[in-house]
Amino acid sequence: MTEKITAVKGMNDVLPKDSYLWEWLEAQVRDLMHAYAYSNIRTPIVEPTALFVRGLGEVTDIVEKEMYSFEDRLNGEQLTLRPEATAGVVRSVVENNLLYDAPRRLYYMGPMFRHERPQRGRYRQFHQMGAEALGFAGPELDAELILMAHALWQHLGLKDVRLELNSLGQPPERAQHRQALIAYLQDHAQLLDEEAKRRLHTNPLRILDTKNPDLQGLVNAAPRLIDFLGQTSLAHFESLKAILDANGVAYTLNPRLVRGMDYYNLTVFEFVTQSLGSQGTLCGGGRYDYLIEQLGGKPAPAVGWAFGVERVLELIKAQGLAQSVAPLDCFAIVPQAQSFPVVFKAVESLRRLGLKVQMHAPSLGQAKPEEGKLASLDDKTPWQHVGSMKSQFKRADSSGAMYALIFGSDELATGCVTVKSLRDGQGLQRVELLKDIDQWGKALQSSLHPKS
Ligand code: HAM
Repeated sequence: MTEKITAVKGMNDVLPKDSYLWEWLEAQVRDLMHAYAYSNIRTPIVEPTALFVRGLGEVTDIVEKEMYSFEDRLNGEQLTLRPEATAGVVRSVVENNLLYDAPRRLYYMGPMFRHERPQRGRYRQFHQMGAEALGFAGPELDAELILMAHALWQHLGLKDVRLELNSLGQPPERAQHRQALIAYLQDHAQLLDEEAKRRLHTNPLRILDTKNPDLQGLVNAAPRLIDFLGQTSLAHFESLKAILDANGVAYTLNPRLVRGMDYYNLTVFEFVTQSLGSQGTLCGGGRYDYLIEQLGGKPAPAVGWAFGVERVLELIKAQGLAQSVAPLDCFAIVPQAQSFPVVFKAVESLRRLGLKVQMHAPSLGQAKPEEGKLASLDDKTPWQHVGSMKSQFKRADSSGAMYALIFGSDELATGCVTVKSLRDGQGLQRVELLKDIDQWGKALQSSLHPKS
């Protein structure tokens, strides 16, 4: 046998058993975004490498070691598979002059790529859904975005999701804190690990984010950025907290929350859960008031977040909130292949009414071809082996359909179809005239899907 080709490590297929849940989440998030008047933006997956180096910061884990970068084989251009979407959205907003007349609220969904060590909840191709509000300076938009994410967790019914909040202040405040932090860490240089020593002068703030248990005592006692914030920064933070308080959104202040990219200032936040093991950060974001200018645009403030789709879906499943198959209304049982012309007419008209109908069709397994040989076009009859009623009923049952429509020869001879309930526990049956199938379908549609 020829050797199989398998997927790239850390990059997963979304198979039919899960894809309904993906589509369902996408639909919920789309509705949420529309409720808050965010419009969709779709930017390329491949961007110039310089966008991320300049946008995310040279001394970040992502830029230092996690990007999928390559050279365009024709013109030598340095390109990268996007590790996140904020930089690309900003590039697009600047390039297309989207802020010329008004601020913008935008959202996106799609795959991102980071060369991390794969484990539960951490993949090399993963997906984010995110929202960015560009051109707004006040804390109201920080609040709007946090409330929007909070509303999503509520709507999905997720439990055990906690909001962590911090303010990173403005660049001059950060510079003062940085000096104090470097001095403090230098005083304790003998305690630092290799990573911390390397970051001491390049990105000391990130040392506060260390996972090394030996450094926890040291970083807990380090100078806190929040103590270096001036009045304006503090007022921004206080106003945000007041809106969250008034709306019953609980949060924990985490002075060590610094985030993984350098573009943030003022508000930063993460939604975290204990229910997913070590990869418990569902959603992260914050303000990035200097990124637009840094990427060549006219200075304009902005704020946003993104959540990891795989992690949110895993939490939905772990908490038993998932429905993994698309709800199906009817399953058409076809005991004789000759009936298909009539069956098609009926199921097509039900589908036009908005009902979801699966029709039984012979599959290769039922064609019983000669052993070791696939049924082929020369074989005159494989499609006529529609399978026994019993096997069709089994499929109808496992399809999740509410009703089986039985198009037997007795029924068709009298212009009828038998409708059998599959979910009432008693298998109640009734006979409907085929010529009136539309009427029956309309009544079913309004009882099963009253809103649509
Ligand atoms: P981030 O914190 O790097 O932020 O990513 C956001 C979320 O994406 C994380 O909280 C996590 O759920 C998910 N995620 C990140 N890496 C992986 C991975 N390797 N595997 C699975 N899930 C992952 C950003 O990307 C920012 N662009 C968010 C933002 C938008 N800030 C402002 N606007």
